[in-house]
Amino acid sequence: MCGIVGIVGHSPVAPLIVDALKRLEYRGYDSAGVATIERGELSRRRAEGKLVNLERRLRDEPLDGNIGIGHTRWATHGVPNETNAHPHFSNGVAIVHNGIIENFAELRDELQRDGYVFASQTDTEVVAHLVARELAAGRKPVEAAYNALKRLQGAFALAIMFRGDEDLIVGARNGPPLAVGHGDGEMFLGSDAIALAPFTNSITYLEDGDWAVIRRNEILIFDMEGKAVERKRQQSIGTSFLVDKGNYRHFMQKEIHEQPEVIGHTLAHYVDFTKGEAKALELPFDFASLDRIAVSACGTAYLAGLIGKYWFERFARLPVDIDIASEFRYREMPIVKNSAAFFVSQSGETADTLASLRYCRQAGVPIGAIVNVRESTIARESDVVLPTLAGPEIGVASTKAFTCQLSVLASLALRAAAARGTITPEDEKSMVRSLSEVPRIATQVLKLESQIEQVARELSHYKHVLYLGRDTNYPLAMEGALKLKEISYIHAEGYAAGELKHGPIALIDEHMPVIVIAPHDRIFEKTVSNMQEVAARGGKIILITDTKGAASATVNTLETIVLPDVPEFVAPIVYALPIQMLAYWTAVFMGTDVDQPRNLAKSVTVE
Ligand code: F6R
Repeated sequence: MCGIVGIVGHSPVAPLIVDALKRLEYRGYDSAGVATIERGELSRRRAEGKLVNLERRLRDEPLDGNIGIGHTRWATHGVPNETNAHPHFSNGVAIVHNGIIENFAELRDELQRDGYVFASQTDTEVVAHLVARELAAGRKPVEAAYNALKRLQGAFALAIMFRGDEDLIVGARNGPPLAVGHGDGEMFLGSDAIALAPFTNSITYLEDGDWAVIRRNEILIFDMEGKAVERKRQQSIGTSFLVDKGNYRHFMQKEIHEQPEVIGHTLAHYVDFTKGEAKALELPFDFASLDRIAVSACGTAYLAGLIGKYWFERFARLPVDIDIASEFRYREMPIVKNSAAFFVSQSGETADTLASLRYCRQAGVPIGAIVNVRESTIARESDVVLPTLAGPEIGVASTKAFTCQLSVLASLALRAAAARGTITPEDEKSMVRSLSEVPRIATQVLKLESQIEQVARELSHYKHVLYLGRDTNYPLAMEGALKLKEISYIHAEGYAAGELKHGPIALIDEHMPVIVIAPHDRIFEKTVSNMQEVAARGGKIILITDTKGAASATVNTLETIVLPDVPEFVAPIVYALPIQMLAYWTAVFMGTDVDQPRNLAKSVTVE
């Protein structure tokens, strides 16, 4: 993952680079570093841990220089310490890198044989030495960089700077995103437009295989054959937002509370509430004649897709194959004729999801991207972009993006059902009415926060937690478990309630709280039976249900969280909120770093 920045400016750039890195910290936060050219010489400051450590370092030992590169790291090769932090240097070359150099071991052996000494355990350092070896062989900086790039295999976004040249950064992209920002007598480079937002909103996205020569007054872009290429310059829409927690303690909490609004925005994009129908979209396929849909995504986005599968199959009678993208990309699934593929991703940059998209692209299937970042690679490589209007999500644990993904999928399933004639116009109207109620009900659910906070206080005393649900509440149970483990570090599993007796029931005792997600739906009684199985074995149940469910559940619970009654169709969107709040408050009681949990990054651009 990692975030990279480069500035060829006309005033000291180190503070600007740190500012840009703050906006990229969602990409990784194991260590950070900045290098500039001061009076012709390369200088750098690096620090282990969060950016504040680098800022402190720079306060004690400031860096001068009007040209510089910076990096915030998510460790892949080598532990997160200062030595492995970027920028890496080699004989007058400074480099920052996002991605993985797959042939680094072979290149390192070759460079070591040539006498290059490696200071770090990273894969990145080979690039610095490769460029330095080209310089030593008499090549000029740009040619040296290009020759080195040709030797690299793997995924990379790179920025390279050269001792003695205060008007040159070479950028390159193969896989992870890289944007060039155009200024007036100054130029910028960054992993995304958001990083560059304070400096410019005039952006050019490099395409895979592109590399760029960036000088104060000129940007030249080439492909891997060395041919000059034209890439569109566009106005970024990333400039309009402020990264701000408002009155909230964490971004995650703020993002949980933004949900009524952003779900409303997203639904309004896809559904005509006045007419009571899903809007006709311009799609590269016709839902009515599709035989199948393939969906692929990772993590929380995958679980949103899984809930979408229940909706598409039940309401539109349209079979859905859904896969975790890291499996999909390699399992060589035959692509069915008359199918369409959907890729779900908050960032729109997840490497496995992007690779799955490209697999489907080769197979000639029409592609839809359900993404939050409209300028992302996945969005740009799809036939139709189906945006989630969640706004920037900063907390590493996905919350509002998830419920917005569900909102898009529910609307699409509705559209498909109407197009295929599998629901009546009356059904459609009533389902649209259900969707229209979600923002209001979500607002009511958020008022349960203080009760949920108390439940979380109890939960924080346990080491293991089981989540159970049936039907769409089964993926939601998995999402609850994922959220809890990623931010509180408590081990949690999400299971289909009916599957309990086939193994996990052996785990049940008084040390294992069981969170049951069970609105009073058509299979509520079945879930109650599963709760009884848990209670009979001394398991402590936390039940999340509605008023009817609370009244008719004949089981003793440790706590019952009672939500307003919601139509079954939209229940997963609403029931996502209590499980997010439960994870959030548990993490707060555990004292973990809620917005930037250990070992994680917001945007996963490596395999
Ligand atoms: C969990 C979480 C991750 C992401 C996953 C996919 O809270 O955020 O599981 O959902 O890494 O990321 P995107 O949606 O950016 O493709």
